[in-house]
Amino acid sequence: MKLENAVALVTGANGGLGGYWIEGLQNSGVGKIYACARNIQKLESLVATNPKTIMAIELDITDETSIAQAAAECTDVNLLINNAGILFNQGLIASKDLSAARTEIEINYLGTLAMCRAFAPILKINGGGAIVNMLTILAKVNLPANGSYCAAKAATFSMTQGVRAELASQGTLVVGVMPGTVDTGMSKDYPPPKVAPAEVVREGLQAVVDGVEDVYPGEQAQQLAAQLLSDPKAVEKALAQMLPVS
Ligand SMILES: NC(=O)c1ccc[n+]([C@@H]2O[C@H](COP(=O)([O-])OP(=O)(O)OC[C@H]3O[C@@H](n4cnc5c(N)ncnc54)[C@H](OP(=O)(O)O)[C@@H]3O)[C@@H](O)[C@H]2O)c1
Repeated sequence: MKLENAVALVTGANGGLGGYWIEGLQNSGVGKIYACARNIQKLESLVATNPKTIMAIELDITDETSIAQAAAECTDVNLLINNAGILFNQGLIASKDLSAARTEIEINYLGTLAMCRAFAPILKINGGGAIVNMLTILAKVNLPANGSYCAAKAATFSMTQGVRAELASQGTLVVGVMPGTVDTGMSKDYPPPKVAPAEVVREGLQAVVDGVEDVYPGEQAQQLAAQLLSDPKAVEKALAQMLPVS
């Protein structure tokens, strides 16, 4: 897919990676960008950098009405970037109740799925286009300190495969981006190595151009992806050692 003059929509545009998606899209020659956030006041300074190209849209991906309004307003989208996500840093058993696990599923899995469903017909009308789902390498192996986040992202990974299959006949490319730790606020308490958010965006957009379905930005993700192919049980056991000391 060509990015020049494409019309993109980015969820969670006010977040750490969100701003880099907007910048990367502008540098790629995209014609229009719908920058979405739950609170559009948080987008004021971003829109001010290029008001001719960037439009702020209020969007909560867990709210069907909010999604329907965005879909009604953004009918020219041909590149959907499902970037919004949440991480509560909770274990599966250690968490006090199911509230974090439930919200992580609501936002990371069901919210992203709802966006795919709402925009699939729009992408079809606009020639097929592409969906980019922001996953993580932890969609493929559980880091127990973030157990419920990993489970939600695993569901989103599986959903990405299913949506890809269902939308193949309408010519929609569905890309899963699976970095390790990215240098944003979400991972501020995590140790290095961290991949630069600009690099995640660069590789994600290059995948759209090249028609690549699975992307592992950064050395950490590439190494883990390779180890998961050669010895998945060893990776599971290594990550099991990374529980916080209680
Ligand atoms: N940082 C990492 O290490 C890392 C690694 C792998 C994958 N990822 C993934 O990359 C994506 C972006 O993460 P980030 O690092 O940029 O995190 P971030 O700075 O915390 O940004 C998350 C964004 O998602 C938005 N969001 C949360 N719930 C939402 C909802 N219900 N509706 C709409 N927007 C919502 C947030 O908006 P509010 O400001 O309203 O909360 C925020 O804009 C996420 O999907 C994350 O899981 C991150």
